[in-house]
Amino acid sequence: TFEVELAQTGKTLLVSEDTSVLEAVADVGVSVMTSCEEGICGTCETTVLSGEIDHRDSVLNDQERAAGDTMMICVSRAKSDRLVLDL
Ligand code: FES
Repeated sequence: TFEVELAQTGKTLLVSEDTSVLEAVADVGVSVMTSCEEGICGTCETTVLSGEIDHRDSVLNDQERAAGDTMMICVSRAKSDRLVLDL
């Protein structure tokens, strides 16, 4: 379980092991465009303001992963206790 803060919305939520960031964000009424929901299309790419990302998609290359500026919220998760998203 980790915490996700939605900077624009001003909400903080918990993402447990059995849910995705996308689902948790949708649960608080914030909609993000998605398509594949499997980490392959890039539609759900979301800007990350802080926190360490556990990238699980097949969209970003190694450099983009290392930069840690964006993540595919349908599949990727957090390595740190907290992520701040630009949502
Ligand atoms: Fe396709 Fe997230 S919806 S990568």
